[in-house]
Amino acid sequence: MAKDFTSMEDSNRSANLTIHEVSSPARRTVLQCGAAASMLATLGGCASVKEMLATAPTLSFKPVPPGFGDRLVVPEGYSAQVIAAWGEPVGIAGQMPAFRMDASNTSKDQAVQMGMHHDGLVFFPLGDGRERGLLAMNHEYTDDGLLHVGGMTGWTAEKVHKSMNAHGLSVIEVEMKDGRWSMVRPSRFARRVTLFTPFEVGGPAAGHSMMRTAADPEGRRVLGTLNNCASAITPWGTYLSGEENFAFYFNGSDRPSPHEQRWGIRTRGRGYQWHVHEERFDVVKHPNEPNRFGWVVELDPMDPSSTPIKRTALGRAAHEGAWVSVTRDGRAVVYSGEDAQFEYIYKFVSRDRIRPAGHGLTAAQANRDLLDHGTLYAARFDADGRGHWIALVQGQGPLTPANGFADQAEVLIKARQACDAVGATKMDRPEWLAIDPRDGWVYCTLTNNSNRGSKDRPGVDAANPRANNTMGQIIRWKEDGDFDGVGFVWNHLVLAGDPANSRPEARGNVRGDIFGCADGIAFDRHGVLWVQTDAHATQMYKGEFERIGNNQMLACDVRSGEFRRFLTAPTNCEVTGVTWSSDGRTMFINVQHPGETPSDRSDPKNPSRFSNWPDFQPGGRPRSATVVIRRNDGGVIGT
Ligand code: FEO
Ligand code: CA
Ligand code: CA
Repeated sequence: MAKDFTSMEDSNRSANLTIHEVSSPARRTVLQCGAAASMLATLGGCASVKEMLATAPTLSFKPVPPGFGDRLVVPEGYSAQVIAAWGEPVGIAGQMPAFRMDASNTSKDQAVQMGMHHDGLVFFPLGDGRERGLLAMNHEYTDDGLLHVGGMTGWTAEKVHKSMNAHGLSVIEVEMKDGRWSMVRPSRFARRVTLFTPFEVGGPAAGHSMMRTAADPEGRRVLGTLNNCASAITPWGTYLSGEENFAFYFNGSDRPSPHEQRWGIRTRGRGYQWHVHEERFDVVKHPNEPNRFGWVVELDPMDPSSTPIKRTALGRAAHEGAWVSVTRDGRAVVYSGEDAQFEYIYKFVSRDRIRPAGHGLTAAQANRDLLDHGTLYAARFDADGRGHWIALVQGQGPLTPANGFADQAEVLIKARQACDAVGATKMDRPEWLAIDPRDGWVYCTLTNNSNRGSKDRPGVDAANPRANNTMGQIIRWKEDGDFDGVGFVWNHLVLAGDPANSRPEARGNVRGDIFGCADGIAFDRHGVLWVQTDAHATQMYKGEFERIGNNQMLACDVRSGEFRRFLTAPTNCEVTGVTWSSDGRTMFINVQHPGETPSDRSDPKNPSRFSNWPDFQPGGRPRSATVVIRRNDGGVIGT
């Protein structure tokens, strides 16, 4: 049985590649490439930057129709290839157990195999990055009905540990030969990060009393990362990943505290039985353990021995992900959002400038502490088209000890409460963000919010203008002056929907191909915005989504506002994560949870209640996987 996400507004699940040339702050040029790790690693120059930015986006592919079958469709002249599905060994020498379609792989096998439910991913070039690189990616959650022999009946410690090992991150090496990509196995870079991997805690909350547990009395070392969604690359060549719906894994007490209630810690959890066999997920016994999740985590994929770090200065939230821009003087600005109904959009401005590699240090090593010092803000979108960033600084405004904020660490651990106190705008589930490489406008998908305007919940506002918002919108803003500006102008790129719908709120204003529930977004090197959707299985194929079909990926020219459908995905999956080889001629995306069970199994309008993508073995299990897309003539994707 697939995990039922109906009650949680699905919410789970997503790569943007925002890269900035910062070699010389005085001549900073914001850009975004498919990836150029060699450039990133050295923070050196990029000869083709101006050329890239001068290139107007052109959408020259022929759009594909809405998808309704258990297959992945790309435009004429393109080919798609599947690699790195759930259960494939990642390629650690001497530890490469083959995937077994009957789910009989052990938890120990799973610890060295691709996790389940691939989400955000980033390509880190090796060499010139045209034909070889690393893919770092997230595994957001598990479908324990598929993961185990016997599914979710008869929970054992072995099942719990296999589930924990199917979460987390993977780093794999990939290469292209004769036009086809494959995993390099074994590879010295191959790595899995699971719920058992030690993480360092960085930033103001490290060591705080609310971070300490019996297993970690210092509050500085956490085992694992959880429910990782979107991902991004930093200008210094590391990988950022957001810990989203961490609360669902904890079993709460009969009388949750106000803090626990605000963070969604439920009395009987959400169905995961981890607390039965791993006591730290029992909040009654270990009340601080949830405080150790919900952070943006940073990993150096080029150093398999490095310890990943939880960046508490960026605030705690059900983080979708985090995306980095750079001020003119070379400081990092990190945008993030919280994918939950009526939660917030954040911005962090680093105190220090990004340092170049040198003196025997890689750029990643030189900037090891960069994200531990700076100022966190929350966004307020006003009705006049202006907006403001409100500093979340202890002692300022209502963020006082009397209001429950004794110090900056408490502000960060209780970021939701801090945002409530300062009056930030409650958004319609902020998912991915992307920064236009040409003009610095920042885009954010607000995927949906069916509770907007419902009884006892916030009503519509200018930024979230539709009640019972089933379709979602993409909002964008431009900072006053530089990326560290505390004011901005904003508008909507689009309100998603289908103009044929009877309910005005579900029609939207899409120019071009219709869609709903935008989630993953990323700009490519030409300034095309790629948009991926995540309508839930319970929505698809009927009602307001009847004509929209399977989840999909579209390309958007943000200047004209045209959306053109590029890809449709298999039954009941979401499309999430996008990254490119250095030359832009290979695109990597992830397909997550194909065949996710709809809550209404008897719905005859659901054309395929089951999927066995991508293996198509009769009776086989559907598997999340990475899809490699190339133009048959070897040209640049999308142009
Ligand atoms: Fe994990 Fe918000 O998608
Ligand atoms: Ca989503
Ligand atoms: Ca997502």
